[in-house]
Amino acid sequence: MIALESVSKTYPGGHQALSDVSLEINDGETLALLGTSGCGKTTTLRLINRLIEASAGRISIGGRDIETLDPIELRRNIGYVVQEAGLFPHMTARLNVETVPRLLGWSPQRRSERSRELFALVGLDFTTLADRYPNQLSGGQRQRVGLARALAADPPVVLMDEPYGALDPITRRQLQTHFLDLKARLKKTMVLVTHDVEEALRLADTVAILVDGHVAEIGTPKGLRATESSLVNTFLRGGDA
Ligand SMILES: Nc1ncnc2c1ncn2[C@@H]1O[C@H](COP(=O)(O)OP(=O)(O)OP(=O)(O)O)[C@@H](O)[C@H]1O
Ligand SMILES: [Mg+2]
Repeated sequence: MIALESVSKTYPGGHQALSDVSLEINDGETLALLGTSGCGKTTTLRLINRLIEASAGRISIGGRDIETLDPIELRRNIGYVVQEAGLFPHMTARLNVETVPRLLGWSPQRRSERSRELFALVGLDFTTLADRYPNQLSGGQRQRVGLARALAADPPVVLMDEPYGALDPITRRQLQTHFLDLKARLKKTMVLVTHDVEEALRLADTVAILVDGHVAEIGTPKGLRATESSLVNTFLRGGDA
C-alpha cells in the first residue's frame, strides 16, 4: 500500500502546491488523481518517488516511510511515465526502454530479451520501431514506449502522469482499453494523473479530485457517479469545479 498522511508541499518561493493531502492506494489498485491544471497532480507523483521532498506529512510504501529508503533503490521499484512521454530524444525507442536495465547492469542479452518482451506487452512491433528515435514515432507510439520504459524492471508501483493527454480521442480510447487489459494482467499499484473525468472513471478503482492542492473528493467511480452533488457529475455536465 502507498499511503500519504497529511502531506503538504510548499515550493521554494512560497507557493503552496499541496495542503494536508491524505490518500491510500491498496496493492494492485489504481488511484486516479483528477483535477485541473496546476492543482498539484504532478507534484503528488514527484513526492511519491522523492524527486522532491514534502514540506510536512509522511509518505509510506508497504509500511516504510520513504524518507528512510535510499532514493535510488526507491525509484527502482517505481515505474514513472512522465507527462508528455518524456522520452530521451537522442536515444532510440529500444534504448529508452532499456534505460533502467542498463542502470541495473543487466547483460546485453538479458536487456535485449526484455525489450522484445516489453514491445510485445505494449503492442509495438519491435522489428520496425525499436531503432527509431522518438521524433520518428507517432504520439501514441511514444506513449507506449514511455510505458514500456516504466515497466522495464517490473516495478510493483507505477506512476503515470497524463499518459494519454496529448492523443486524439480514438487512440486515447484504444490505449485506455490496453491499460485496462495490462492492469488486470500485471496487478501493479498505480497512480494515474489525468484531467479527463471519463478517463478517471473508466480506469481507476478510486478517484481523488484535487482542487487547489487539497483533496476535495474521493471515492469509487460508481460511488462518485451515484452522488448527484459530486464534482464528477458537475464536470460531466460540462460545469467548472
Ligand atoms: N518547481 C516549482 N517551483 C514553484 N512552483 C511550482 C514548481 N512546480 C510546480 N509549481 C507550482 O505548483 C502548482 C502545482 O503544479 P503541478 O505541476 O503539480 O500541477 P499539475 O496539477 O500537474 O498541472 P498540469 O495539469 O498543468 O500538469 C502550480 O501552481 C505550479 O505552478
Ligand atoms: Mg502536471
